[in-house]
Order: sequence, then structure tokens, then C-alpha cells
Amino acid sequence: MDNTKINLKPINGKLGILTPGMGAVATTFIAGTIAIKKNIGKPIGSYSQMGTIRLGKRTEGRNPLVKDFLPLADLNDIVFGGWDLYEDNVYEAAVNAGVLDRNLLDQLKTELEEIKPMKAVFDKQYVKKLDGTYIKEAANKMELAEAVMEDIRQFKEKHNCERIVMVWCGSTEIYIRESEVHSSIEKLEQGMRDNHKDIPPSMIYAYAAIKMGIPYANGAPNLSCDIKALEELAKTTNTPIAGKDFKTGQTLMKTILAPGLKARSLGIRGWFSTNILGNRDGEVLDDPDNFKSKEVSKLGVLEQILEPEKHPDLYKDLYHKVRINYYPPHGDNKEGWDNIDIFGWLNYPMQIKIDFLCRDSILAAPIVLDLAIFLDLASRAEMAGIQEWLSFYWKSPQIGEGLYPQHDIFKQFEKLKNTLRHIGGEELITHLGLDYYE
Ligand SMILES: NC(=O)c1ccc[n+]([C@@H]2O[C@H](COP(=O)([O-])OP(=O)(O)OC[C@H]3O[C@@H](n4cnc5c(N)ncnc54)[C@H](O)[C@@H]3O)[C@@H](O)[C@H]2O)c1
Repeated sequence: MDNTKINLKPINGKLGILTPGMGAVATTFIAGTIAIKKNIGKPIGSYSQMGTIRLGKRTEGRNPLVKDFLPLADLNDIVFGGWDLYEDNVYEAAVNAGVLDRNLLDQLKTELEEIKPMKAVFDKQYVKKLDGTYIKEAANKMELAEAVMEDIRQFKEKHNCERIVMVWCGSTEIYIRESEVHSSIEKLEQGMRDNHKDIPPSMIYAYAAIKMGIPYANGAPNLSCDIKALEELAKTTNTPIAGKDFKTGQTLMKTILAPGLKARSLGIRGWFSTNILGNRDGEVLDDPDNFKSKEVSKLGVLEQILEPEKHPDLYKDLYHKVRINYYPPHGDNKEGWDNIDIFGWLNYPMQIKIDFLCRDSILAAPIVLDLAIFLDLASRAEMAGIQEWLSFYWKSPQIGEGLYPQHDIFKQFEKLKNTLRHIGGEELITHLGLDYYE
């Protein structure tokens, strides 16, 4: 990364954050951000709002808040919108999601009721468990994309926004492999006109956003923008993109713990992860085709961090299994169990058990905020294409051809901070030179 100062476009107006999908994650994000603006709560879990960044040598004592170091979008200048196949406004959807207390939601009722979804691009073939009716109709997938673009233009005008970002918060679609139709923009566009079956709704929204130069983040494990054609389009339209699948509960724990065990050269024989959750996401993932997308996204993590090919004595025989079970009584309060069989000195076995009683959407909401704010920053810095420096937020980071994803959360965090330093025209910090001790 060269250290020439980046010319950041200044902020001259509001940022619209649009989410396809206005369920548990999106409504927790929107209601939470409004509560924070009203000083009812704090943006805990959001690095862009609460994190600091060291600049220069340690002796210089410069550790500003990230939001004081860089000109990020201010929470007071954010407007929310989105799409769903259920017509509920954000207040009703948040009450249904059952994540935030009714008492808190009632304090925000007026603002939340004003945010109503636009009609969704939806096809039951990709999410079999949902049955909404608030859906766009058109002759083909290209016309649907044009309708989404028209929605965006109208939203922008109505709310007087200077900039827009889109963050996919919709359900996990069935597993689709990248294929010929995804290989170039011409083929994708033709496929959309021909209603090709390998172009799911999440790809149509992504196409619409990227075509308009609107930064796009992919919060689910769907292919969505993770195809050659859309990477190409993002370069042409100068659009930052990032994905996929928010890194929240169990995978967050995995990418915190595994680098530590590896750093101490401790062996791992098995890692069994199971989840029980009872929200709508859990119901969608109860279908094997939808679970397959999630499983693929969750499984890659350990392999990359542990590098068994380099450390056969420690990780060659690692057995890694991930399950998700729909269990309605838990609602959004997911329980993530991990049983980790490790071994140490002279192969003596030990076990670690984690029982993470987490709240999925409480962990995901600050990620949505950070991604929207950092993608807007990237766009203003004219950083086009895949934003690998945002891998920190993803279970399955999208990467350029020929590269491998980085899953180690500590390496991801260093890369994130160094990119912010670079954008702000500061020296990168590698912790390798003597300056670390200065
Ligand atoms: N909560 C987490 O910790 C977490 C972590 C990683 C990924 N995710 C992913 O984020 C997504 C959202 O999770 P959630 O808990 O909010 O789920 P949810 O079921 O509460 O909300 C998803 C919403 O998307 C809507 N939707 C589905 N397809 C749509 C389409 N084509 N257009 C518009 N709306 C559509 C659904 O009607 C629903 O309201 C899921 O894909 C989930 O797998 C969540």
C-alpha cells in the first residue's frame, strides 16, 4: 500500500442506508441507531463509533477515536430505507422480531412507523420457507433490477440524500455455485433478460446498486455480488463492494480462539459446533438447501487459520462439523455450543467447551452500521471493487481471483486499521520495526 494521501470527497449531505430485507437484523440496526441518536443507548460493538486508532509512534500518544480521525458520515445525517416481502413498517417488524424491548421500541415508535419497506424482488424458489405477498412483478429479472434502480432514485430524491449505500439484510438463499452466466457482465445481463435460474434476488439488488455506483455489502452467505461479472462491473462503475455473511456469534468466537491456539502450537483434533435458534433466520436455515449456503460459509474458517498443510502434526486430522437447529423457544437468542478437542505436550488430550448465549441481531446491528459507514468512506476515497480490508466483518470474506481469504480476526483488524491510516494519510503500523517499542 503506498502512502500517498488519498483525496477524500467531502460530505455535503445525507447518507441513505438501504437494506434489502427488513427483519431482525435490519430493524435492530435501524431502531438502535435512532436510539443512539436520541441518547437512549450507546453504539456498543461498533468500531467506527467507539473504537480508537493509534497514529504514529507510541510515544506520540495519539489515539483518537476513529470518527474523530476521519470524516465519517455522522449518525445524525443518516436516513433509512429498504425492501421486504412483508408490508410491516419498521416498528411492526421490530416488534415481531422480538429482539429489542417493547418499551424501547415504543419510545421510537413515531420514527420507526415512518419507515416502510418498498416492494421486494422475491422468488420463493430461493427461500422456500417464506410466503410474503408484497412483491414486484415484471417480465424478467432485468426489469426487476430496473425497478429497484427506480426505487433508489425516488428514495434519494424524497429524502434529499447525497449518497446511498446498500447492505443486504435479507434471508439466506439456497446454495448456488458460480457458473458461466456469472462469468461476465454481458452474460449476466443476458441471463437477467432470459430469467436464468442461477440469478437469485440478492444478485438482482446487487446488480442494481453496483450499476448505479452504490456501494454494496452482502450480509448473508448468498453469492449475490460474489461473482466475476459484478466484480467487473464494480470496477467499471467505481463502486466498492464487500461480503459475505456477517461474522457474529460462533464464527466470531472461532476466529478469536483458533489464532491463539495456533500461536501456542497447540493441536486440534476436532471442533464440533452446533447452534440452536428460533428466529425467522433459523426457520429459513432449517431447509437443507438454505443451510448449505451457511454451512459452506462457516466451514472455511478453521482450515485457513490453522493451515494444516503447513502443520500436519497439529491439524492434519482435524474434524470440523457445523450444525444449525431451528428451536423456536430461543427466538433471536441463539445458543452456540462448541466442543473443541485439543492436545498438548506429548499429545495429551484436553477439551474446551464454549456455550455462547448470544443475541444474533445485537451482534449484527453494529456490523451493519460500520459497513455502511466504511463503504461510504471507501466510495468517497474512490476505492473500487472488493474491499478486502473489511474482512474483519465477514464469516467468509470475498476476495480477488487467485487470493485466499484471511480469517484470523487479529490480522483482519490490523488490515482494517492500516487502511484507515492510509486513507487519513498516516504512516502504516506493522509492529515489525523497532518503532513498536519506541
Ligand atoms: N443475525 C446474525 O447474527 C447474522 C449473522 C450472519 C448473517 N446473517 C444473515 O443476515 C440475514 C438477515 O438475518 P435476520 O436475522 O434479520 O433474518 P430475518 O428472517 O429476521 O430477516 C430477513 C428479512 O428479509 C426478508 N427477505 C427475504 N428475501 C428478501 C428479498 N428477496 N427481498 C427483500 N426482503 C427479503 C424477509 O422477509 C425477512 O423479513 C440472514 O440472511 C442471515 O443469515 C445474520
